[in-house]
Amino acid sequence: MSATAFSATLDAPRGAGGIALSVRGVSHVFRSKGRRVLALQETDLEVREQEFLTIVGPSGCGKSTLMNLIVGLFPPTSGQILLRGTPISGINRSIGYVTQADNLYPWRTLRQNVEFPLEIRGVPARQRRERAEALIQRVGLGGFGDAWPYELSGGMRQRANIIRTLAYDPDVILMDEPFGPLDAQTRLILQNQLLELWQSERKTVIFITHDLGEAVALADRVVVMSARPGRIKAVEEIPIPRPRNLFEIHADDRFRDAYKVLWASLEEEVRKGSEV
Ligand SMILES: Nc1ncnc2c1ncn2[C@@H]1O[C@H](COP(=O)(O)OP(=O)(O)OP(=O)(O)O)[C@@H](O)[C@H]1O
Ligand SMILES: [Mg+2]
Repeated sequence: MSATAFSATLDAPRGAGGIALSVRGVSHVFRSKGRRVLALQETDLEVREQEFLTIVGPSGCGKSTLMNLIVGLFPPTSGQILLRGTPISGINRSIGYVTQADNLYPWRTLRQNVEFPLEIRGVPARQRRERAEALIQRVGLGGFGDAWPYELSGGMRQRANIIRTLAYDPDVILMDEPFGPLDAQTRLILQNQLLELWQSERKTVIFITHDLGEAVALADRVVVMSARPGRIKAVEEIPIPRPRNLFEIHADDRFRDAYKVLWASLEEEVRKGSEV
């Protein structure tokens, strides 16, 4: 069975060029114990099919809130989110979510973790195993399928976390600082693997990071969010051709130019945070 056979069926066609996801006039207010926190100001964003979009912004500016809204964990206070023109309500199978903390099940081996989303979708055992094994191999974890999560390094667990989301073949993948706690060298290796996976599986990816270099290196477009309450402050196209060599991209003039423009925009917001 091909990987695409696991896709949730959608009426709208999939392919490059169109708009995968539209965020229209979305804002969010959290209310608890009489407190009211405006986490996200009115936001508009269109994400193209098969685009790699990265989001940067100061801590607390509403990045994770935006992801939680897109994935349908709770409805926005105002506005609407559409997946290929259809409003999202509730959890949507076509959208995968790689959260910041790896939440592998400790009582399942690596392979069993990767197979889990297929199991709950009723995919037969042999096909589950084939899909899981192919992904495990692709990210260099061959031979670790029977390992328990506690036997894996942080970087290995993050790879497992990512391929577990890829296993059921969602069209759109949200990633919230997936490489946050890792050292620089491990990040570089995982970034490379992620780009290879993205290029072969042609997903739409929205990727949050605190690291502007990572945001520029990976992205087709980088979004800068303002300090809380967050709004989209700037969007920059990254005109570096693919496939990209992440080991050398920092020396590329186009990388430096984009970084400079984006940093000017981000620095101002980060400073606001430090004045509080
Ligand atoms: N469930 C919640 N209940 C109440 N307030 C919340 C909740 N989740 C987030 N917030 C508030 O909303 C604001 C935005 O939080 P969010 O987690 O989206 O920020 P972030 O940009 O992801 O930050 P970080 O970079 O630190 O992860 C913060 O002020 C936070 O306190
Ligand atoms: Mg967050």
